[in-house]
Parts: sequence; structure tokens; C-alpha cells
Amino acid sequence: MHQFQLSDQTIMDISLRFRREMDKGLCRDTNPTAVVKMLPTYVHSTPDGTEQGEFLALDLGGSNFRVLLVRVMGNGEQKVEMENQIYDIPEHIMRGSGSKLFDHVADCLANFLEKKGMKNKKLPLGFTFSFPCQQTKLDESFLLSWTKGFKSSGVEGKDVVSLLRKSIEKRGDFEIDIVAVINDTVGTMMTCGFDDRFCEIGLIVGTGTNACYMEHMRNIELLDGDEGRMCINTEWGAFGDDGALEDIRTEIDRELDAGSLNSGNQLFEKMVSGMYQGELVRLILVKMAREHLMFKGKTTPGLLTTGHFLTSYIYDIDTEKLEEGLASTEKVLRGLDLDPTAEDCKATRRVCHIISKRAAHLCAATLVALLRQIRDNKAAEKLRTTIGVDGSVYKNHNAFSRRLNKMVRRLVPDCDVRFLLSQHGSSKGAAMVTAVAFRFAAQQAE
Ligand code: GLC
Repeated sequence: MHQFQLSDQTIMDISLRFRREMDKGLCRDTNPTAVVKMLPTYVHSTPDGTEQGEFLALDLGGSNFRVLLVRVMGNGEQKVEMENQIYDIPEHIMRGSGSKLFDHVADCLANFLEKKGMKNKKLPLGFTFSFPCQQTKLDESFLLSWTKGFKSSGVEGKDVVSLLRKSIEKRGDFEIDIVAVINDTVGTMMTCGFDDRFCEIGLIVGTGTNACYMEHMRNIELLDGDEGRMCINTEWGAFGDDGALEDIRTEIDRELDAGSLNSGNQLFEKMVSGMYQGELVRLILVKMAREHLMFKGKTTPGLLTTGHFLTSYIYDIDTEKLEEGLASTEKVLRGLDLDPTAEDCKATRRVCHIISKRAAHLCAATLVALLRQIRDNKAAEKLRTTIGVDGSVYKNHNAFSRRLNKMVRRLVPDCDVRFLLSQHGSSKGAAMVTAVAFRFAAQQAE
């Protein structure tokens, strides 16, 4: 397991590498070949707390697909109320044709409006679409490539807002005003920004991993204008796709990538996020069993099946309390039809610990690069900032968030960084962006 354990020095070095990748993405000349895309989001400001109204939101791309109705009451109360419904996206739709996928989204939206008795109200809608997109304005967003488990045909290169509009028009039974399409990181930053005006970073560690932050327009060479700031979606999951992480990638990382839907892509994400942590552990256990280092050399169909070691198992195994952790380990291994010894359980727990720790520390490395960029932009000696966070791994695995927070503080002791967890931030954020857009429109009309 030695090669999975990264020294502080290596983490710092990776942070510096990522900072260079960010520069590459921001500069006009190097952007076309940059793997970390640093995508403009057309979101210029975080909420100021005066936003209000009733909005719909869609959230596609995390572990669940949600439709939401969000009421923002900004008249000094800074209150947000929401009702939401989770809908299933069956695998054949995730990997089928694009028009089927958007028809399904429109069907779910119709079902939600029907239930709420709101089909004849033309409400503004914000769409959280958590994939890398080239945006040209707030409501136009071209999918660059699918990530995570999605692979629906005929969508890459297309504007997802038009696709959704088409599917809604085809039904013809309700009307919707699609105002904004955003990434989940942006949604998270906006949701946290409603409560904390220092929030200028949005972080997701869930099925995938990614972050956005507020960048100065003068540094975004792809866009005209030097005034003010804009939120940049880094798409840091693609860090390493040009070979920048080859020295730390292991044989197991390569094996996981080879068996994935998007081989060669999202190499950083594959070392960090929830879709892959469990699978990394499984591949290590298989290798150790085959080398007769565990399970008396035996494997089972359960252990040999891709995806059978869930990342959520790691949350229960890698806990502070040794006894509890070992009991969970035994239960998980028995669930895979293995007959583990006490030593096997200890070893499995250690593997989970190391994989999760590497993920947390890698995530700290890239986060620190963002913090330094923000600090340098402000020419501030001491930066006070808040990071809005969402995602199943961060929320459900205590040891993960603890290690991430600790490493960030160790690497940038001169920054006062707070982590603010957002409940349903990625979904609610779509409504927040829509609300901010409405506030600006109203101000301009005055
Ligand atoms: C993947 C997507 C990215 C998203 C992240 C977290 O990395 O490409 O857009 O923000 O997952 O959901």
C-alpha cells in the first residue's frame, strides 16, 4: 500500500502542479490544449440575501435526479423553503439515446407539476446539470463530454437547454421559462453564499468531484471585459488526463480506468470521488487475495464483481472506533461471501483507510491551489474565505471531511478557511442563480 501514501511534500507539489493547470485553462493561448477546462459560468455574483420568489429547479448528474420547488424569502429573513421529489433514472435511459433522457426529464417535471397543481403556472426554472459544459450565456450550455455513469448518445456537443425545451414542447401540456443552467459546484457555492457572504468556492465530493470559485474577469482571457468577477467551473476531475499525475497513479488506478466507461478521462476524479473509492478498494483486495496475502488465497464471485464493494461501506469501516470499524468490516466481507480472519478484517480496514486518506489529501491539494489563487487575486496577506460543500462522500464519511479540512489548514496556515455544508446545495443553488438573475433583471427595469 506504500505507493498510495503521499507525503505532505508530494501533496504540496501536486497543489503547485494544479495551479499551473489552472493557469493553462485560463489563458487564451493554452486553453485549447488544457485538460483542466476552467469553464466560464456566466454567474457574476453570489446572492446578497434580498432575492425572493418562487422557482423550479432540476438537478441531474449526482446520485439522484430531483425536481424541486423553491421559495426564496429574501425580505430580511434569508429563508428558503423547498419541496422536492426524487425520480429514478433507469440505467437504460442513462446510457440510451439523448432524446429519451430529456423526454424522461420532461415527464418527471410534468408529474411533479401535476402533483403540486401547478401545471398552468409558467414558473422560472434553474437547471443543475453536473457535467462539463461550454457555456455561452446563462441559459445556453453545450455538453463537452459525459462523465460519471452517464453515456447517453447524441448529447455531446449539443446545448442541453434546447434539448430540454424541445422535450417539453413535444409534450405540449405545460410551459416553463428556463432561465439558467449551472454546474452543481456553482449551485453549492450559491446556496452557501446566501447564508455566508464570504463563500466564494463551491466543492463537491460525491459521485464525482469538482470545484468552482470566483475569479477576476481580468484573469479570464477567454472573455472580454476586465471588470468584476465571474464564477469559474474548474472541472478538476480531468486533472491528470494529459499525464500530469502519472508519477502517483498506481497499477490499480490504471486497472480501474481501463474498466471504466470513459477510459483515459477524469483521472483525478477516479482517485478521489465516491463512484470509484469502493472499486479501488475492491481491486486491491482481489489482488491481495490472488497473491495469497488475504482470505487464504480465496476469491468469491461477490468480490470479483465490478462495483460490488460500495464506497458507502468505507464510511462504516473507516471509523474512529476500532471495534465498530472491524465489526462493519466483517459484515461487509461476509456479505461478499468471504470467510475473513481477524487479520483479513484489519487489513481490509487499513486498505479503506489509505484509499480514503489519499482521496482527501488529493482533494486538499487542488483546493489549496484555489485558495492561493483567490488570495493572490486579492493581494491579501490573510485570506478569510468560506468553502460551500456538498456530496455524499463529504457528508457521510466523517474521517474524510476531517482529513480534508486538516490538510487544507496545514498547507495554508495563513488562510482563515471555513467549510460550510450545504443541504441539497447543488439543487437549491439552481433556484438561487435564477433568483439572482431575476433580481438583476428587476433592478435594470427600475
Ligand atoms: C463530474 C462532472 C462535474 C461535476 C462533478 C461533481 O466531475 O464532470 O461537472 O461537478 O462530477 O458532480
